[in-house]
Amino acid sequence: MKNSSISISFPRTRMRRTRMRKFSLDLVQETRLSTSDLIYPLFVIEGHNKKEEIKSMPNIFRKSSDLLLKDVENCIQLGIKAIAIFPYISKKLKDDSGSESINPDNLICNTVRKIKKEFPDIGIICDVALDPYTTHGHDGLIINEQVDNDKTIDLLEKQSLNQAISGCDIIAPSDMMDGRVGKIRDFLDKNNYINVQIMSYAAKFSSSFYYPFREAIGSNYIGDKIDKSSYQINPGNSNESIRGVSMDISEGADMIIVKPGMNYLDIIYRIKNTYEFPTFAYQVSGEYAMLEHAFQKKILKKSKTLIETLLCFKRAGADGILTYFACEAAKEIIKLK
Ligand code: PBG
Repeated sequence: MKNSSISISFPRTRMRRTRMRKFSLDLVQETRLSTSDLIYPLFVIEGHNKKEEIKSMPNIFRKSSDLLLKDVENCIQLGIKAIAIFPYISKKLKDDSGSESINPDNLICNTVRKIKKEFPDIGIICDVALDPYTTHGHDGLIINEQVDNDKTIDLLEKQSLNQAISGCDIIAPSDMMDGRVGKIRDFLDKNNYINVQIMSYAAKFSSSFYYPFREAIGSNYIGDKIDKSSYQINPGNSNESIRGVSMDISEGADMIIVKPGMNYLDIIYRIKNTYEFPTFAYQVSGEYAMLEHAFQKKILKKSKTLIETLLCFKRAGADGILTYFACEAAKEIIKLK
């Protein structure tokens, strides 16, 4: 309540009064989830009619694009408006400089074209970073044993433009190089892709909760040795994320992502309050794995727990959520109506 001089005291005030009946519980609910809040991340592999299990993410599969089309159709039917696609690149196409990332006919670009042809209205988000394409698994080019900021950006610009040309709606740089949002924006504009949006991973923490994702995109053979702390944010910092987000907004980002989600609700809250800018939470692979394992063992009840995790992201200030549970959550939301 805005006026803290109002005294609220028992028995005139009974907090439980509105909680007693379902109708009034619903009437006073402050935050709500809708299927259009959800973004569904998908993993794509080369081939036809191929479906591979991701062991650390039960129930999530890498699929060839023909099978992926069915998932996209399912999403649309459930009221989900956007997907994020990530490639699993075969080892023989990986090299030190991630050169496959700038191939205009790579797996991601071809997949975007296929999806757009069938479903022109779905929003497609493509990650921009080199990690699926490099043998070392880092998001950037390694020069003199360091991830080189500026030389990496030259590649990211090309990767972004190729994705835009293939029909991607939103470019999502997840690489965390400094200055890449501005450079990508200028490069897209120079090439007349002025309306392709940028959803920047602006507050991306150097987190252990990404490990299952690394299995999903096939950089797990580098294991948990890979250390991204020279470019992702230290989980102990909050002010630093505020500075990083201000840079990305001033460079032309249209939306920003906070990642991971569950342990970083304070960051979502602070960023939303500071900038009043479109802010998205990413419920990442490790969060998915923890929850799904507990659901499968019946330690937690899926339907309610899942909705609670997503609702809390919105309460903290997120406008939407990237989640591997998007389809199941959408079914639940439709049921709740
Ligand atoms: C790669 C990227 C990562 C994720 C999204 N893009 C992993 C990383 O930075 O190591 C993580 C997503 C997840 O864990 O679900 N730049």
